[in-house]
Amino acid sequence: MRVGPLPMIEGLRGHVGHGESGLKPSLSESLRTETRELHTLAERSAFMGVLLRGRMERPPYCAMLRNLIAIYAVLEPALDRHASDPLLSPLSFSQLRREGPLQADLDTLHGTGWLDAYAMQPATVDYVARLRTLDAVQPELLAAHSYVRYLGDLSGGQMLRRIVRQSMALPPGRGTAFYEFGTSEETVQLKQAFREGLEKLQPDEATTRAIVAEARLAFELHMQLFEELASDVLVAF
Ligand code: HEM
Repeated sequence: MRVGPLPMIEGLRGHVGHGESGLKPSLSESLRTETRELHTLAERSAFMGVLLRGRMERPPYCAMLRNLIAIYAVLEPALDRHASDPLLSPLSFSQLRREGPLQADLDTLHGTGWLDAYAMQPATVDYVARLRTLDAVQPELLAAHSYVRYLGDLSGGQMLRRIVRQSMALPPGRGTAFYEFGTSEETVQLKQAFREGLEKLQPDEATTRAIVAEARLAFELHMQLFEELASDVLVAF
């Protein structure tokens, strides 16, 4: 799947409360229900399946991390640039930042030279282009990418941490910084704080729809990335 031109959505900003009335689901509820089936598909992708079964070798795993770095390396500075935007500031937690931890993991898992060792997949190129466009013209939609990445890292990522540690015979305390957000209590608290942040956003109806659509696109791009990684690196290594 290729990402087409950015649909321009006019008049998106505003703060009409949902959820509290009980009539309309909140953004957080809509995100969860409207990405549920895509989450299931992503979780069941061949690439994730190999990872979940503890069968993944280091090279394809490093290839995934290298592609994720490219995404965070654009997402995180963009979130910083728009940190005072009321539709993003409630989701701004410095502990969430993943670019540094991913670099540390690649240093451990691959050593120096990882940047050149693994290709940026076409889906990642598309993903990065999309994030740059949002940064420039619709930063409020970055909330969707924040949701998909960080709530995912704080959720299923915690399960993956154990599996990666076991399957890749990692040196103690190294190699899974990507999944670490402090103690397990701190991780639970951060996840709770992120969900509360989502509740605080209260975008108007059109913006809510656009954020949900953007989250669905983010899942689709992830699935495309997993497919590309499966046919490229799972086969090659
Ligand atoms: C091996 C694959 C995966 C597993 C085992 C997994 C597992 C889980 C679990 C158990 C939850 C529920 C946590 C809770 O309700 O508190 C969850 C939530 C979530 N996951 Fe995953 N996940 C996987 C892959 C992914 C991927 C690839 C993404 C993003 C591209 C993702 C994004 C999310 C998000 C955004 C949530 C929060 C949903 C909500 O609003 O409650 N997950 N995941």
